Amino acid sequence: MKIAVLPGDGIGTEIVAEAVKVLNALDLSFEMETALVGGAAYDAHGHPLPDATLALAKAADAVLFGAVGDWKYDRLERQFRPEQAILGLRKHLGLFANFRPAICYEQLTHASSLKPELVAGLDILIIRELTGDIYFGQPRGRRTAVDGHFPGAEEAFDTMRYSRPEIERIAHVAFQAARRRNGKVTSVDKANVLETFQFWKDVVTEVHAQYPDVKLDHMYVDNAAMQLVKAPKAFDVVVTGNMFGDILSDEAAMLTGSIGMLPSASLDAHNKGLYEPSHGSAPDIAGQGVANPLATILSAAMMLRYSLQQPEAADRIERAVQAVLSAGLRTGDIWSEGTRKVGTREMGDAVVAAITGK
Ligand code: NAI
Ligand code: MG
Repeated sequence: MKIAVLPGDGIGTEIVAEAVKVLNALDLSFEMETALVGGAAYDAHGHPLPDATLALAKAADAVLFGAVGDWKYDRLERQFRPEQAILGLRKHLGLFANFRPAICYEQLTHASSLKPELVAGLDILIIRELTGDIYFGQPRGRRTAVDGHFPGAEEAFDTMRYSRPEIERIAHVAFQAARRRNGKVTSVDKANVLETFQFWKDVVTEVHAQYPDVKLDHMYVDNAAMQLVKAPKAFDVVVTGNMFGDILSDEAAMLTGSIGMLPSASLDAHNKGLYEPSHGSAPDIAGQGVANPLATILSAAMMLRYSLQQPEAADRIERAVQAVLSAGLRTGDIWSEGTRKVGTREMGDAVVAAITGK
């Protein structure tokens, strides 16, 4: 088993180092190879996703990714910006299913934006389609309007589209994920207004016929946004398109307290995946040793579960994270009165100690 380790920029290098330490503590035999990505790769090789990095990611069974980006690259042409590395990896690795669990740890319920009773025990999984929708549909651009409310005015437009195979494959992913959890999927659409999402709803319903053991509901996206803050625990697996998923997964992140706790996975059709924290490179705290490494450590656990077929090892990591939280250790982003503030490295060491029992 080979893991491509791509720490990236900012806190990426600090948090990935802790996840690597945790993986090494498991005593499993995998090979890890590190490469530059993002701004760090641009500085060294003139491109955010150098050929050698892409080749390593392609050859590996899974990719452990930190984060990319920094304000200092904002003026570069788009193709050289660090964030392009993520888009390039998604495209070249065929990653189409983005898993974003939103779990509210019992020890952190006070840190949520919602009342503790609404989020205590929250454990939902948002599955976002990554390749289609209005983000990639053609044509798009600017032109002079020939009709509409202001003919002759300058206008901009994008195209929302989904093909049947794109919807089918993400629906299968969602129903299979639901089988491993509580057998329930909510498909989020805007079928009342958009042809694309009427089609989405029809195709998801057709695929559902192959999963009679899973319960399927449909919900409009505006209602889903409301229900996520009103009764988030009523959801289990949520599956939706690229744009709705982008927005709802960030909303769900805030229910849990800190973005520093949230892992994510982006999977292809063969369980290969890219695993990364849901947050970015946090340039405001980079280099200070204070970033929370738990989202990245939990991403490594997802990697063991989904790509490396090591569910027990994934459980061991997740139990160790619970143990350090129960012991009262907190990085600054989740700290509260009465708990012990620790830095990035101390948090990683504590997870390792909880795993090895030393
Ligand atoms: P961000 O997620 O990097 O930071 C948002 C806020 O959360 C900051 O105050 C930061 O200090 C805090 N934060 C984030 N992760 C944390 C952690 N592990 N522990 C403690 N605090 C944490 O988002 P922002 O500021 O919008 O973007 C910063 C850079 O990251 C930009 O260049 C952006 O493009 C990039 N980015 C990269 C992503 C990726 O690599 N997948 C995803 C999102 C943003
Ligand atoms: Mg987003």
